[in-house]
Amino acid sequence: MSEFYDIIKRRKMVRQYIKDKPIPQEIVDKLIANAHRAPSAGHTQVQEFIIVQDPLIKEKLSEAALNQEQVYDAPLSIVVCANTSRSVGRYGKRGREFYSIIDGAFASMLILLTAVNEGIGACFVGAFLDDKVSEILELPKYVKPIGIIALGFPAEDPSKFKRIDISKLVHYEKYSNQKQQK
Ligand SMILES: Cc1cc2nc3c(=O)[nH]c(=O)nc-3n(C[C@H](O)[C@H](O)[C@H](O)COP(=O)(O)O)c2cc1C
Repeated sequence: MSEFYDIIKRRKMVRQYIKDKPIPQEIVDKLIANAHRAPSAGHTQVQEFIIVQDPLIKEKLSEAALNQEQVYDAPLSIVVCANTSRSVGRYGKRGREFYSIIDGAFASMLILLTAVNEGIGACFVGAFLDDKVSEILELPKYVKPIGIIALGFPAEDPSKFKRIDISKLVHYEKYSNQKQQK
């Protein structure tokens, strides 16, 4: 199996990390460099990244993320943001409310896959109070937080979630048709 397929297969959210084992800067650089390869609507390049390691900020972020412990426990988090000022002029509401989320999600996925490749555990956290996160990180109004990615060397190997059978999810030509014509 190619390495690429293997990485996709191995990816899963990891929520427990080895304490006192920081992520080396060169790995952080790779995570960001690959996220920076993400596409964006009209090449507006809205994606921005806030790297958080300060325990005080982590504590506040964890609270804003409905007290999810992995956000505090992770030695480092990357908060993926979308700077909508770079898209709103061209795309208006759709840029601000829709493309921004997709752009941030694409960059986040690249971080998650790069983490697998580097032996780092990662958890994408989307359940948080936007206003609180914006306040903690002092985001300008036009910068929207899309996800908090908690990262650290894995201290757990959770079992993989089963997926719904592919045949139930794929439709041919129209939604009502789940069988391919031969
Ligand atoms: C948009 C989105 C939001 C998510 N928010 C959270 C979250 O707040 N906390 C968390 O622990 N996991 C969160 N997850 C991770 C999912 O729970 C996880 O991807 C799903 O259960 C499947 O598990 P797997 O990724 O390990 O295969 C989120 C995932 C997505 C795509």
